[in-house]
Amino acid sequence: MKQETEYERRLNRHYDELKWLYCELYENGMSFFEDLCGKMQKKYKYRKKELKELDRKREKNPEWYKGNDMVGMMMYTGAFAGNLKGVESRLDYIEECGVNYLHLMPLLTSPKGKSDGGYAVADFTEVQPELGTMRDLSHLTGACHEKGISVCLDFVMNHTSEDHEWARRARAGEAEYEQRYFMYHDDTIPREFEKTCPQVFPTTAPGNFTWLEDCRKHVMTTFYPYQWDLNYANPVVFNEMTDFMLNLTNQGIDVIRLDAVPYIWKELGTTCRNLPQVHTIVRMMRMICEIVCPGVLLLGEVVMEPEKVVPYFGTVEKPECHMLYNVTTMASTWHTMATKNVALLKHQMDIVSGLPKEYLFLNYLRCHDDIGWGLDYDFLKQFDMEEVPHKKFLNDYFQGYYPGSNSRGELYNDDPKLGDARLCGTTASLCGIEKALAEQNSGLLAQSVEAVRMLHGYMLTQSGIPVIYSGDEIGQCNDYSYKEDEEKAADSRYLHRGKFRWDLAEKRTEKGSYQYDIYQSILSMEKIRKEYPVFLNKADVWTVETYDPAVLCLIRVYGDEKLIALFNFSNEEKTAWIQEEGMYTDLLTGSEREGTNVVMKPYDILWLMNHKL
Ligand code: GLC
Repeated sequence: MKQETEYERRLNRHYDELKWLYCELYENGMSFFEDLCGKMQKKYKYRKKELKELDRKREKNPEWYKGNDMVGMMMYTGAFAGNLKGVESRLDYIEECGVNYLHLMPLLTSPKGKSDGGYAVADFTEVQPELGTMRDLSHLTGACHEKGISVCLDFVMNHTSEDHEWARRARAGEAEYEQRYFMYHDDTIPREFEKTCPQVFPTTAPGNFTWLEDCRKHVMTTFYPYQWDLNYANPVVFNEMTDFMLNLTNQGIDVIRLDAVPYIWKELGTTCRNLPQVHTIVRMMRMICEIVCPGVLLLGEVVMEPEKVVPYFGTVEKPECHMLYNVTTMASTWHTMATKNVALLKHQMDIVSGLPKEYLFLNYLRCHDDIGWGLDYDFLKQFDMEEVPHKKFLNDYFQGYYPGSNSRGELYNDDPKLGDARLCGTTASLCGIEKALAEQNSGLLAQSVEAVRMLHGYMLTQSGIPVIYSGDEIGQCNDYSYKEDEEKAADSRYLHRGKFRWDLAEKRTEKGSYQYDIYQSILSMEKIRKEYPVFLNKADVWTVETYDPAVLCLIRVYGDEKLIALFNFSNEEKTAWIQEEGMYTDLLTGSEREGTNVVMKPYDILWLMNHKL
């Protein structure tokens, strides 16, 4: 009997379920399913030897990405080093930062001025020319793999740019391509959609449809008018997009970030978010990767409240995404900085720590997007914090308008009707470094550095993968130059997407500079995190009441290790009125401390470790 090949083994494992889900989604879809299978096999065939070896290695060790040694960094290729070759030449820096997971922001072809930071893709098979070529990308991933760095890339699957060949042909009236989008002759259906479908960019791109004067049609554009939503009810769209995704994984991409994934299925009379068909599609993508490239991980971009995020992990038998963003924790952290009250964050930590330990979150303080104030307002009601006035408070606070605030942020998509603005700015600027430098206030600078350090420490304390936003490790401030660039001026997210300041990065080794203080403290916390198993995802985590509203206490326990992590979210000295018996070593300073009534400096962080459990 013929021996089953590796590919057959992987295919057979998933074949029935894949076919079943596919045919359930696409009635009479068998011929399309066969087309999909053909595409998958071809992609497997052309997958490089080294990548196949990596797949095998990771298949044998399916938990390879769950260690406490994982540290991520996200960056725009252009802003960091000009182009892909530039990033490759700077890999030493990335390595020096302790990073082994690199998220490169969108870098595929995208029209100038209508790019949404690269999230409007005109060709899924080509790299943006000024950033390099596909060959450069695959060379870079190879170089990363040699250093043990995994590479993440966005897969912008919800929409294409209006410049994509499909969109151009649809615009020209080719029915086959029109069917890949949502196009209508009159506004009857668009008006129906608008009744139930909320808006993403109410100020910069109101509505969910765009009128195309030249072809006299309405097209669905949930995001910007030049980002046309793809119609995944058409199996051709699913097959072709899957093929594009596998093309990226064959360039050596290890982690596929499923951009805006909750939006990919649309249905009249619904919010067009998180519909059951979205989960069918993600599950199919997971199986497809496990068949063609099992070393590849799926990271879902689900910027929603926890109840909506968690289902994207799928179930133990039928997993969907490997990793998801811990977005509510991120937003709640900034809320805590403004209110100096940890109640919400403690509540949020209790929710996250209660989830199965198989779930893996990416923790972050800042990313390329705005901070949306998606907080648990039902919880906040008990503190008389109502959604609209509280959002206004947070936005005022982080713009530096509120008494006592040292932040320098800007609003994003201010919707005066709903009172729903979001916020932009780098960690350093939001924490006061920009103001301190402008006012040459050394006291404020020192305090702001402590705040940045504490926040990174908090990120590194949580279970999951910590992801640094490039520039934060050297306390980089806002970049206002986007206002002079016509193509960017309307989008304040460019405030925190400035060019990486290599001149400032130089100072990371100069004692006495704030860059040194921030960089070295993040680095040493990363090192400690990697050293102690108590930081593993598998550890037990719970919160403890400190009886001071500004101090958060997290306890992590694993094996014989017990860690009491304390965070002072205020600019005043505080006492954590905890009663944890015994002597502990503060891993950050080496000093011996008791676990009771712990006195903390402003924005202090303590990692108190006890081995004798
Ligand atoms: C995601 C990206 C965001 C982009 C949007 C549309 O939310 O993070 O930057 O604007 O998708 O693609």
